[in-house]
Amino acid sequence: MTDSTATLSFNDGSPAVTLPVLPGTIGPEVVDIRPLYAKTGRFTYDPGFLSTAACTSTITYIDGDKGELLYRGYPIEQLAVHCDFLEVCYLLLQGELPTADQKKEFVNTVTQHTMVHEQMSAFFRGFRRDSHPMAMLVGVVGSLSAFYHDSLDITDPHHRHVSAIRLIAKLPTLVAMCHKYTMGQPFVYPRNELYYTANFMRMMFSVPCEEYKVNDVLVRALDRIFILHADHEQNASTSTVRLAGSSGAYPFACIAAGIACLWGPAHGGANEAALNMLEQIGDVSKIGEFIKQAKDKNSGVKLMGFGHRVYKNYDPRAKLMREACHAVLEELGLHDDRLFKLAMALEKIALEDEYFVQRKLYPNVDFYSGIVQRAVGIPVSLFTAIFVLARTVGWIAQWNEMISDPEQKIGRPRQLYTGARRRDVKPLAQR
Ligand code: SDX
Repeated sequence: MTDSTATLSFNDGSPAVTLPVLPGTIGPEVVDIRPLYAKTGRFTYDPGFLSTAACTSTITYIDGDKGELLYRGYPIEQLAVHCDFLEVCYLLLQGELPTADQKKEFVNTVTQHTMVHEQMSAFFRGFRRDSHPMAMLVGVVGSLSAFYHDSLDITDPHHRHVSAIRLIAKLPTLVAMCHKYTMGQPFVYPRNELYYTANFMRMMFSVPCEEYKVNDVLVRALDRIFILHADHEQNASTSTVRLAGSSGAYPFACIAAGIACLWGPAHGGANEAALNMLEQIGDVSKIGEFIKQAKDKNSGVKLMGFGHRVYKNYDPRAKLMREACHAVLEELGLHDDRLFKLAMALEKIALEDEYFVQRKLYPNVDFYSGIVQRAVGIPVSLFTAIFVLARTVGWIAQWNEMISDPEQKIGRPRQLYTGARRRDVKPLAQR
């Protein structure tokens, strides 16, 4: 505990209240307002939670001013270079990077869970072929609760671990099934001899008529994209997973709730929106006009892939994403890619514009990810589903941390009521 305190006084004569100030390992301290309502009959007011810490966590740390992102204390820049996605999954779940033996066992366990129940393919036949992949994914991930009754005791750490492994292992298979279904091509089963991300690319792009050749440069780039999206503190979709989980809901249903939230264009849907924005701008000569609209509040236009609630400096993931973009375009001989050049021109112009500088609006993780994914061959409508695939490990690690917390309670925020005072119902004839 701490002897640091904050005192809140009122100018209406109500008694002042003294509250503990709690320190973290690094980053902002918190004023512990848990006793506030009982002591003062007042709530705090913070729509959008700009100044609210909803929990304690040991998983991810972000310093928005420094542009720093740590997973379990390790900088994202080092993890993206020295690790692969399954090592990062192990780190987020267990708190430490795996040894060679631990990694071998973890990779084998995940590999053994990559197939989905054969009946799940029946769900897809209920969807229109032109359904948005996120609409399908919300449905099929939520339905996993209907298949795995053997691991639904969330108070049992082993059940929680099995559910985490199943989700990490099956999301690539389910995302690839969404893609194949919209293409009208047969579903492709996972292959156990392939590494996780290569397996995913084969399920996405192989066809029964020919052997699929794995391109290691593209696999590495996509694997890095997964690492960059794996977790991000208490963002909107992670908070959704935690809130759903706080009622004791099954983990698959909680992840489905996170998928629904991530779909929004202000959140994970921004990568799809950013690429559509680049297509809409079309040419460097049109950038000025677009920027003018993005600065006009009444236009309803935003520079998608720019800005962030926490990062008031460059999103460290955007820098790494731009590097991955460069590597992929070089590998594919697309260094003159029209959209990549347009994106870099747009970024340069925006970062020299007072409106964006003054508001500390920099490219975020979504600005370049769409260009890389399009170059790899992923359709625009599937970009956010790729984000889901990668973020599932962060969601389930945060869910597990919450369920394991002896202090956790069901989340139930209050409100500032501004509606009608108590009044009596008049019979219909008198209204
Ligand atoms: C993700 O939280 C996370 O960690 C999320 C994420 C994760 O990994 O989980 O990082 C993933 O969601 C990244 C963000 C992707 N979204 C976008 O790229 C959509 C475009 N960005 C904006 O919608 C916005 O920047 C948000 C939603 C990201 C942040 O919104 P905030 O923190 O509520 O900030 P705000 O909307 O209050 O903006 C502050 C000012 C406003 O102008 P003023 O009222 O001060 O005059 O900046 C303006 C905004 O109008 N502004 C923009 C802008 N973003 C903010 N103006 C033009 N274009 C933009 N992109």
